[in-house]
Amino acid sequence: MTNSERTENALTRRPMPLWLHLWARVNRWGERLLGTFWLFRYFSSPFPGVLAHHFGPNLFQDHGNAFRQATVDRGEPTSNYFRTSGISACAEANGGVCSFRLNGEIAIYQNTNVPLVRDNVLAPSTNPVTEIFGDFVGTLPNDHPLRPGKRAAVESSLGNLNFVAKLEPAVRKHAVDYLKSVARKEMPLDDFALFLVAHVDSFVPGILDLTQTPLTSYLASTEYGRVTRDFIDVASEAIGKVNPAAMSDFETIIPFVRTLLTDNFDALEAAPDSNLIRRHFALWERSLTIPEIENLDPAKLKELGAIIVATYETTALSILWLLVFLETSPDIKASVVTEARSGGNEEKLSFINKAVLEALRLGGSNPTALWRRTTTPFVLQHQGRSVTVPPGTMMWLDRQQANSDPSIFPNPNLFDPANIDAILKSNRENLNSVLARDRYEINSFSMTNSQGNPRKCPGRIFSTQIQSILLSELYSRYEVSTQGIDLHLKHYKTMPRPAQPGTIVIEPLAE
Ligand code: HEM
Repeated sequence: MTNSERTENALTRRPMPLWLHLWARVNRWGERLLGTFWLFRYFSSPFPGVLAHHFGPNLFQDHGNAFRQATVDRGEPTSNYFRTSGISACAEANGGVCSFRLNGEIAIYQNTNVPLVRDNVLAPSTNPVTEIFGDFVGTLPNDHPLRPGKRAAVESSLGNLNFVAKLEPAVRKHAVDYLKSVARKEMPLDDFALFLVAHVDSFVPGILDLTQTPLTSYLASTEYGRVTRDFIDVASEAIGKVNPAAMSDFETIIPFVRTLLTDNFDALEAAPDSNLIRRHFALWERSLTIPEIENLDPAKLKELGAIIVATYETTALSILWLLVFLETSPDIKASVVTEARSGGNEEKLSFINKAVLEALRLGGSNPTALWRRTTTPFVLQHQGRSVTVPPGTMMWLDRQQANSDPSIFPNPNLFDPANIDAILKSNRENLNSVLARDRYEINSFSMTNSQGNPRKCPGRIFSTQIQSILLSELYSRYEVSTQGIDLHLKHYKTMPRPAQPGTIVIEPLAE
């Protein structure tokens, strides 16, 4: 600690009375030793004097049962439980953070995007399910020696604004092809979004290069349709053992990847070096040959499966939210149409870019609330006080509510690109700067907030730029009409989806 830091802490921290310090220690010691027999746990906070605590529905029950009934039995989005149980209100009244207990475990709940903790004291968010995603970078601990190379395989191209800018003509061309193929046909809006993104991702050179048998073929197949369309939901069902068939459904990712590699072998062999699949073979020090593909072990096939699905799935869900918001917001849609038909604008962040970011903020394309577990003790600073949080604590982030923080966004619960204007620090901001690792206003590209955000999604620049181009192609060439959209969140889904995505028809504009 530097001298200036020491002075600042001494000046800013309100000292905690000694008796509270001692009580916190005795309380944690009692809980560790006696568990549920430690009667004080039913009346006391695990972090007295620092964090407010929300008790369970009654004196002898913590939130475990009620949480399971709401999220598993009734299939409600997790953020709903936090709101209806009063946990969110407790946090709001106490600077955005409070504690609660879940099946006896200590949990800290947060509904702001302020990073509370360094990433290296948290287990990966996928920690309880490591084997399900194979050797995927997101399952590796932060200091794992293979992480930098695996991240770079994606980030060095998809996280590079110059690389992504060069893809624009190809993205436009393949978007035009897809849109032509579905013109005048009424189709479910979620299928439209998914197949549009999957088509473009398959054909744009240097990304996946699945030009012999594109992703759209597998998405439409009975064999691989379930795992490729609903990857995260199937994985969650398998992890939560909610559906007995889910594990075998999930395991179809293994033959899916092997088949996809074999079907597209010639295209992959000829693909540019930036191709994500080729880069993974290089990382594994394997040559891309048919015998090597046949010999790949399940962990590597799952790793590739996670990368391939990550490339289209979240982007497709984001663009679905973007379309449902636009189609139910006539004024904003009109501004998007005007910009798309005038050929764009000179701003570093166009109105369309802002609409994309705003849909990511409000709709999100990852679960409404997520948690990661602490692996070592850390000192939590909150409202001028501090406390040591023990290992094994669940750190929950209510992502949906944190993304609607009224102290940051002027219209937090509305789809309004003015919310993005509110976070811009200058007119020089672009996608890169708004989505930089040290920016926390929108957390859609992180599971929870951590200082420095070393895990922030490496595909975020690619995804937001692609969505902007697809939107401008769609609205510049077509009259878009939709019906039957219901913006409420669908139940029994891990990923947030509209209750009714509705249908879409696109009518070509007269030349
Ligand atoms: C709108 C689209 C996308 C969203 C919302 C999204 C969201 C996320 C989130 C929330 C994480 C977890 C970060 C954490 O652990 O804190 C993540 C990680 C990751 N994403 Fe994305 N993602 C998107 C698009 C993409 C694309 C296009 C790719 C391309 C392959 C990609 C590849 C990855 C990878 C490899 C990781 C693991 C990073 C690491 O652990 O260091 N994502 N993404």
